Amino acid sequence: MPATRHEVPAVLRPIVEVAGPGVPPLLALIEARLRRAAAPGDGPVDEVAERTVAAGGKRLRPLLAILVAGAPVDGAPRDAVVRAGVAVELIHTATLVHDDVLDAAPLRRGRPTAFHTHGRAAATVVGDRLLAAAFAEIARGGDPEPAAVLAEASRALARGELLQRADAWRADVDEARYLERCRLKTGALFAAAARLGALAGDRDPDAYARFAEALGVAFQLFDDVLDVVGPPEVTGKARGTDLLDGTMTLPFLLARAESAELAALDPTTIGPADAEGVCDRIAATGAIAATEDRARELVAAALAALPADDDVRRADALALVARGVVDRRL
Ligand code: IPE
Ligand code: IPE
Ligand code: MG
Ligand code: MG
Repeated sequence: MPATRHEVPAVLRPIVEVAGPGVPPLLALIEARLRRAAAPGDGPVDEVAERTVAAGGKRLRPLLAILVAGAPVDGAPRDAVVRAGVAVELIHTATLVHDDVLDAAPLRRGRPTAFHTHGRAAATVVGDRLLAAAFAEIARGGDPEPAAVLAEASRALARGELLQRADAWRADVDEARYLERCRLKTGALFAAAARLGALAGDRDPDAYARFAEALGVAFQLFDDVLDVVGPPEVTGKARGTDLLDGTMTLPFLLARAESAELAALDPTTIGPADAEGVCDRIAATGAIAATEDRARELVAAALAALPADDDVRRADALALVARGVVDRRL
C-alpha cells in the first residue's frame, strides 16, 4: 500500500526528526489504515466512529510502537508495526469514547464527545465497534501473541475504569491505589504499544513494556494536573472535570493533606460553578508541584532502566518522548 500524504502531528515532529526518515511513512500508513478500519460501512455508528478517529489524536502510542521497533533493516515498512500502531490507536480511541460515557464528558480535544452528541447507548456501541476493529486488525497479522497483548491491555483498561468508578467521590483513597488505577487505565496500553513494537523489532519486550508503563503512569499524572490547572484552550476541556465526575486524583488527594479547608470539603457538593474555584485552591497548595515531582521521578527511573541501546536514534527518540511527557507537551 503506498503511503498517503500525511502531516505528522506537530507535537510529535521534534521526536520524529530525531527518529529518522523511516518514521513519517510508517505514521502515514498507520493513519490511512486507521481511517479505513474505523469506517468500512455507511451506518450512523460508522460515521461517528470515523469522526472520532479523525478528531485530532496525537498518535503517541503508535509512535511508541514504531520507535521501539526501530529502523527496518531492509528499508521496507514493517507490517507488524503498522498493524500494532493501528490496533493500539483503535483501542485507545475506543476507550476514550467509553471513558467519556463513564465520565459523562461533554468535550474532548475541544469538540463535543460522541456521548454528548449521540447519547450513552450510541457512544457505547461506537466504542465497542472500534474495539472490534482493533482486534480484527491484529488478527489479520496471523500471530496470536500480539492479540493476547492487546487483550491483556484491554482487560487492564476495563479494570482501571471500574476501579475509578468504585473509588468515585472517595477522598480517602491512598496514593498506592491511585497509582495502580493509573497503571491499569493508562500505563497498560502504553506498555502494550511498546511490547508490540519490541516484538516487531526483535527487542526485549519486558524491558520496553516496563519503560512505557511508567511513562504512561506519569502521563496520567500530568493529565490529572492539567485537569486542575488547564487552561481549557490547551486541554480542550473545562478545568475541574475530574472533580465533577467524582474522580479523586493525586493533586486533590495531596492538597487535602495540606489544606484543612479542602479536607473539610465534601466532594459530592462541588458543582460546575465551584469547580474552578476548588481547582484554584488545589493549585495554591504544593500539590501540583508534588504530583509533577512524582511523575518526573517515574520517568527518570524508567529511562535509567532502559537496556543499553546500539541504535542511537531509538535511544534519543525515546528520551525525547520521555521529555515531552515531563514537559507536558504530549
Ligand atoms: C488522553 O490520551 C487520555 C489519557 C490517557 C490521559 P492522549 O492525550 O494521548 O489522547 P489523544 O492525543 O487525544 O489521542
Ligand atoms: C484516561 O483517563 C482515559 C483512559 C485511559 C481511558 P481520563 O479520564 O483522565 O482521561 P481524560 O482526561 O478524559 O482524557
Ligand atoms: Mg475522562
Ligand atoms: Mg483526565
